[in-house]
Amino acid sequence: MPVVKANAYGHGAVAVARAALQAGADRLAVNRVAEGVELRQAGLQVPILVMGYCGPWEVPELLAHNLTPTLTEIETAQALNAAAPHPWPVQLKIDTGMGRLGVLPHEALSFATALVNLPKLELEGAYTHFACADSPDPDDQAYTRWQFERFMVVLETLAAAGIRPPLRHAANSAATLYYPETHLDLVRVGIITYGLLPDANHPSPIPLRPALSIRSRVARLRTLPAGSSISYGRTYTAPHEIQVALIPVGYGDGYHRALSNRGAVLIRGQRAPIIGRVCMDQFMADVSNIPGVALGDEVVLLGRQAGEEISAEELGGWMGSINYEATTALLPRLPRVYKA
Ligand SMILES: Cc1ncc(COP(=O)(O)O)c(C=O)c1O
Repeated sequence: MPVVKANAYGHGAVAVARAALQAGADRLAVNRVAEGVELRQAGLQVPILVMGYCGPWEVPELLAHNLTPTLTEIETAQALNAAAPHPWPVQLKIDTGMGRLGVLPHEALSFATALVNLPKLELEGAYTHFACADSPDPDDQAYTRWQFERFMVVLETLAAAGIRPPLRHAANSAATLYYPETHLDLVRVGIITYGLLPDANHPSPIPLRPALSIRSRVARLRTLPAGSSISYGRTYTAPHEIQVALIPVGYGDGYHRALSNRGAVLIRGQRAPIIGRVCMDQFMADVSNIPGVALGDEVVLLGRQAGEEISAEELGGWMGSINYEATTALLPRLPRVYKA
């Protein structure tokens, strides 16, 4: 069950969902009802699990678009039971140690019993989510195993009461890679679907190749004299004559302002540092040390060019964040081009 929430981590939900289904996935996960609606409106018909909080007011939309909610409170369950035209699949989330969404292990039996007593609800699944399955730290590994044990104990308690949700799941990408014993009935793979690692310091047992690159072109090329200042706030002043390339991408595309005077891009296989502030629609890079730069040259903001690479981890690091956010930050204005 690929996780295609947040516009498929910035990659484009509908295109990624289609590719994943073609590659053998048989259901999809999103976080919000609206994300499920987008996939339905694109014509996708497989089961779609809404993993995020779902309030009673969202029930009509959920029903209209044939989405499967995650239930963690009785009010939404009752609203769904009252309105569902026929038995409706729902899933139960157990919080075994993430401290986020879900009922606590000691509440699970009474909540699951309440759900199965609502005649229109069909408990198709139960799941939990790991807090640190990406980490190679022994304490974090012990915590992950402890979370999994708690989940299995809950499932046994439910089974003893005759409640056996057919889809039991726990593994995110990290657990899919590092804890095969947690795979159960399905895995919820997010970041590895996009060829990225959950933690760059924890090598993957399977080869991964990033699916996404960000490419632009040199839109303007100028030589500026020493002392010239670049962009808003004059945060960069040329120490000597410089050659400056303008790149027409900015924070209005999700290329963060935090990259100002920090990040770099690839042009002709070499790194050109970003100088001055990243604006909403454009930024400047110093290409003084790259021979032969010409108008229209390809600029790689993320990805590979002639043996050099700017990884999502590096881009995320410059932003003060992680690879997840580097791609998820990309806004719809940035055109997505899909290659087979
Ligand atoms: C409940 C749940 N399952 C699975 C995932 C996928 O995580 P990952 O991208 O690390 O595979 C997420 C993402 O945050 C999530 O919230």
